Amino acid sequence: MKKILSALMAGTMLFGSALAFAGCGGSNASSKADDTSKTESAAATADSATKDSATKDSAVNGELHMATNAAFPPYEYVDGQEIVGIDAEIAGLICDKLGYTLVIDDMEFDSIITAVQSGKADFGMAGMTVTDERLEAIDFTDTYTNAVQVIIVKEGDEKIKTKDDLKSAAIAVQKGTTGDLYVSDYEAEGATIERLSNGADAVLALTQGKVDAVVIDNEPAKAFVAQNQGLVILDEPFENEQYAICVAKGSELTQKINTALAELKNEGKIDEIINKYIKA
Ligand code: ARG
Repeated sequence: MKKILSALMAGTMLFGSALAFAGCGGSNASSKADDTSKTESAAATADSATKDSATKDSAVNGELHMATNAAFPPYEYVDGQEIVGIDAEIAGLICDKLGYTLVIDDMEFDSIITAVQSGKADFGMAGMTVTDERLEAIDFTDTYTNAVQVIIVKEGDEKIKTKDDLKSAAIAVQKGTTGDLYVSDYEAEGATIERLSNGADAVLALTQGKVDAVVIDNEPAKAFVAQNQGLVILDEPFENEQYAICVAKGSELTQKINTALAELKNEGKIDEIINKYIKA
């Protein structure tokens, strides 16, 4: 129920802007919001056939499966039956270039790396920040954009003005994200942390007064604040991050995706997609 609600929120929230982008990019993307169960059983069959079957089997099917968590506008969110957003569109163009059909599998954010490691998905793209810890488990492609973690509080909040003030606060984050990682440092100092399954739930906890702050990436933060009255983003950000696509360790896909990404950058397509979703 919670999951469905958040998906609906995310979908409704950007419904207007999503409409404007319908039909752009990712022409052969087949991205059903409810695709996961079907995909998982298909992947399970493939897994039992041969251990590192993912890329091989996908190549035979002509499909590349992208693992994501589609409650993260404007990078990925549900619009009607479809998963749209910056990542979905870039992935669509990469698959076009590589000659594959893109299939998007929606899942919990903290399941993405396991899905890629186990071969259930060919790559993960989810506004995912490159970190040293993640690099121990998977490979990352070249980066395609920058981001920064920000703090959302209730308008007029007198208690939290800087990130130092988080040390005594109740904070909501999306489980397994870099936001989660950063605020975990404050736990020892007395902060309490609500680790929720997506950003919309974290923002809901804030609007309901269950927590004092949310720490999340800047663009989703802007989207959530625009949709919920009485919230503001603090000026002081956390450190900068870079997003990349994750692939299984040693996968030949890294080089292929990097080549496609470089071409798309040169053609101005990456900027074009980002500028469509993020107004200056
Ligand atoms: N950039 C952050 C991270 O990599 C948050 C990503 C969350 N993405 C998502 N699709 N929910 O941890």
